[in-house]
Amino acid sequence: MRVNIGILGCGCVGSGVLKILKSKAETIRNRTGVEINVRRILYRSRRPAQELVPPGAALTQAYGDLLDDGEIDILVELIGGLSPAHEIVSAALGNGTSVVTANKAILAGYLPEYRRIAAESGANLEFEGAVAGSIPIMAAIKSSFVADDFSSAYGILNGTANYVLTRMSEGMPFSDALALAQKRGFAEADPAFDVSGRDAAQKLAILAMLIFNTGISGDLHAEGITDITADDLAYARDLGCTVKLIAKASLAGGRLGAGVYPALLPFSSALAHINNENNAVYLRSDNSGDALLFGKGAGELPTASAVISDVVRIALRLKSQSAKPPVSIFKQIPLIDPLELSSRFYIRYSVLDKVGILARIAGVLGNHNVSIAGVWQKNTVAGVVSLVMTTHSARVRDMFDSVRIIDSSNDLVRGKSLVLRIDDLEG
Ligand SMILES: NC(=O)c1ccc[n+]([C@@H]2O[C@H](COP(=O)([O-])OP(=O)(O)OC[C@H]3O[C@@H](n4cnc5c(N)ncnc54)[C@H](OP(=O)(O)O)[C@@H]3O)[C@@H](O)[C@H]2O)c1
Repeated sequence: MRVNIGILGCGCVGSGVLKILKSKAETIRNRTGVEINVRRILYRSRRPAQELVPPGAALTQAYGDLLDDGEIDILVELIGGLSPAHEIVSAALGNGTSVVTANKAILAGYLPEYRRIAAESGANLEFEGAVAGSIPIMAAIKSSFVADDFSSAYGILNGTANYVLTRMSEGMPFSDALALAQKRGFAEADPAFDVSGRDAAQKLAILAMLIFNTGISGDLHAEGITDITADDLAYARDLGCTVKLIAKASLAGGRLGAGVYPALLPFSSALAHINNENNAVYLRSDNSGDALLFGKGAGELPTASAVISDVVRIALRLKSQSAKPPVSIFKQIPLIDPLELSSRFYIRYSVLDKVGILARIAGVLGNHNVSIAGVWQKNTVAGVVSLVMTTHSARVRDMFDSVRIIDSSNDLVRGKSLVLRIDDLEG
């Protein structure tokens, strides 16, 4: 069967889609019977390379040309950002035109709305490329665990942060590791979104909405990796751990706890060994237990591959005129305040090299119900000691409150302390 598509945006992923369609058209047709015909391509400032433009495809700078083209079966939105992507996707779905997108920003904000519009118009919406690149996580959730109820999803969802932490575990300073990630093409020109945890939080929101069939409004809690040093990775190693930026969503007592934070993971955990720009996600469900999906979380061809698989999935559905997957009824699951959760902690204080400091820190922690598990004195530079401490399980709010008090005492510490969770990823 032949399916007509319109491609919006010819940057990294859009060009990847055109490259794969050029080199793998026959493979796709032989495997699936689907012939993908590109009718129109939207670009803004950079025209797609001429050799990638399929014969017969019209180039335009007006997205209305694609929305108004009654022959297009599937719009492939790859311009990114909120506007005009949101207006385009809403309008297409409203018209009954199916949409494939890799845009986590619009999905994190509007997924329940898109699913409602699509349910009313009969359009299809697929977005495998938006979360964890080429890893078929959406397909797994929708078609491989149909009889399962999920209790949690957790993993590594930002390749840039994972690449940076991997280099830092080898001793490289944060800024050099980030520069290398940019040079290797893993990080955005402005990588703040990656290293602040906000990119992973958007992906986690999409994942959580899908597996728990809930809506999430507003941004999920996100802590980044910018205050972590290569020394912290070395101290973590002494404790039998490494540091990873973890995205985790889990149900507890009918409420949803979801957020992104850097954490010490024991080397016995499989996630501790997911390195470089790779992503990995554990799905935990009642029938299947834990399933680990691992692979390239981003990049031109991996993401384009996921986009094309979505196109074929919809094309086969259109061909068989099979009913779209039934309308999901979203239920609203209340969110747990992330500060009310509990964890064990790693803390690195920069304390003055004086008698009685440890007793005073212990006093503040004790007043906040934080119990110390271990203390190590590390480097001393110019009268300032790196004091590393681990705690027993404590409330996140109590931990942060106690460190705020300690950090405000000039006669105790110099500079901001670092607080990281120690995560066994249970629960
Ligand atoms: N790159 C990845 O590895 C990856 C992985 C997963 C998901 N994604 C998602 O995929 C989407 C595309 O990412 P990308 O990396 O391909 O971004 P990109 O390289 O910046 O490409 C975006 C393209 O869209 C064009 N564009 C932007 N606004 C437009 C508008 N209003 N009208 C027409 N064209 C417009 C840009 O044109 P100009 O030439 O004018 O800039 C650019 O060519 C994003 O939602 C991103 O989050 C990307």
